[in-house]
Amino acid sequence: MTITEVTTYPMDLLLLADPEEQAIQAYITRSKCYVKELDGKIVGTYVILPTRPHTIEIMNIAVEESLQGKGIGQQLIQHAIHTSKELGYTSIEIGTGNSSIPQLYLYQKCGFRIVGIDKDYFIQHYDEPIFENGLQCRDMVRLRQFI
Ligand code: ACO
Ligand code: ACO
Repeated sequence: MTITEVTTYPMDLLLLADPEEQAIQAYITRSKCYVKELDGKIVGTYVILPTRPHTIEIMNIAVEESLQGKGIGQQLIQHAIHTSKELGYTSIEIGTGNSSIPQLYLYQKCGFRIVGIDKDYFIQHYDEPIFENGLQCRDMVRLRQFI
C-alpha cells in the first residue's frame, strides 16, 4: 500500500467529498494530506486536521470514481487511524451527511461510533442544496473512535 503525505492537495478528488472549494480552503492550511498512488497516478486521498487537544478529524476522504467500491476507502481510513495514533492523538473523528448511507456504513465498519448530530449543518453552511440517494443532505452525523 503506497500512501504518502503530500503538500500539493489533489483538489479534483477533494471536491468529490465536499462540493464547496471555499469550505476545503478553510481547513487545508492547518491540515495534513495523504494520497494513494497506483501506477504513478493519485487515486485516493484523505485530509486530517487537529481540532481539539488529543483529537484529530478526517475532514475529507475521496477515491477516484472509477475505482470506488474496491476497498481503497477502507485502506485510507485504516491508514488515517494508524497515522493519527503515531502522531500522538487519542481520538479520531469524522462527519458526514444524513443522506450519505454507504459512508455511514463504511465509517461504522471501520470502528467509528455515532456521537452526535449537527442539525441543519448543510442547510446553514452550503449555498446550494445537496441531494444523495434521493434524500436531501441536511444534518451532519458526527462519528468518533478512541485510538
Ligand atoms: N454503495 C454501497 N456500498 C458502498 C459504496 C456505495 N456507493 N461505497 C462503498 N461501499 C461499501 C463497500 O461495499 C465496502 O463494504 P464491504 O467491504 O462490506 O464490501 C465498504 O463500503 C468499503 O468500501 P471501499 O471500497 O473501501 O470504499 P471506496 O474505496 O469507494 O471509498 C469513499 C469510500 C471514500 C466514500 C468513496 O466512495 C468516495 O470517494 N465517495 C465520494 C466522496 C465521498 O463521499 N467522500 C466522503 C465524504 S465525508 C468526508 O469526506 C469526511
Ligand atoms: N435495503 C435498502 N433499501 C431498502 C430496504 C433494505 N433492506 N428496505 C426498504 N428499502 C427501501 C426501498 O428500496 C424503498 O425505496 P425506494 O422507494 O426509493 O425504492 C423504500 O426503502 C421503501 O421500501 P418498502 O418496499 O416500502 O419497504 P418494506 O415494504 O420492505 O418495509 C420495513 C420496510 C417495514 C422496514 C420492512 O423491510 C421490514 O419489515 N423489515 C423487517 C422489520 C424491521 O426492520 N422493521 C423496522 C424496525 S424499526 C421499527 O419498527 C420502529
